[in-house]
Amino acid sequence: MRFTIAVDGPAAAGKGTIGRALAERFGFAHLDTGLLYRAVGAKGGDPVAAARGLTPEDLCRSDLRSLAAGDAASRVAALPEVRAALVAFQRDFARRAGGAVLDGRDIGTVICPDAEVKLFVTASPEARARRRWLETGGDESQVLAEVCARDARDMNRADAPLKPADDAQLLDTTDLSIDAAIDRAAKLVAARLPR
Ligand code: DC
Repeated sequence: MRFTIAVDGPAAAGKGTIGRALAERFGFAHLDTGLLYRAVGAKGGDPVAAARGLTPEDLCRSDLRSLAAGDAASRVAALPEVRAALVAFQRDFARRAGGAVLDGRDIGTVICPDAEVKLFVTASPEARARRRWLETGGDESQVLAEVCARDARDMNRADAPLKPADDAQLLDTTDLSIDAAIDRAAKLVAARLPR
């Protein structure tokens, strides 16, 4: 069976957690596409060459989850040639047999416009900054400023900007526990699975 679940949304909205949980619940493969851009940003040098030469080892670096890596990722992700270099890998992953969940910013709009399920996961900037701050520590207002700056860059770039697909289902996690958000997402998926 080929079945693609696209999970898009801004930083720290819960996409990764929801994407992983959906993959586990339905037995699908999961790809955190943000990791591709984080790995490109972390490699340094020419980002286009880094994207074209990305290896599985590049995705295993231990420093990819930091705020700095997220910021670098958002910068290289604005370059159309970097995005183009990563399209084929993501599309192949999405159509693998057995089903796939991809989380990112442009999965439902650009990478997999025909995905069987499209979720747009969001939350208020304050709720997202608090979650990130609980993971990273530091100055909470600084984390909020960085989350807002990254949102603005991701939403305002010319190529594949962050926005819900016209046919995406919105999931606002501001006031939801992780379990409640996963439950809601799983119900939306279950309703679309072939019987
Ligand atoms: O989901 P994340 O925080 O790991 O993503 C890091 C950055 O990568 C994000 O700010 C924008 C970019 N990104 C993107 O442009 N498209 C994707 N599909 C995933 C991430």
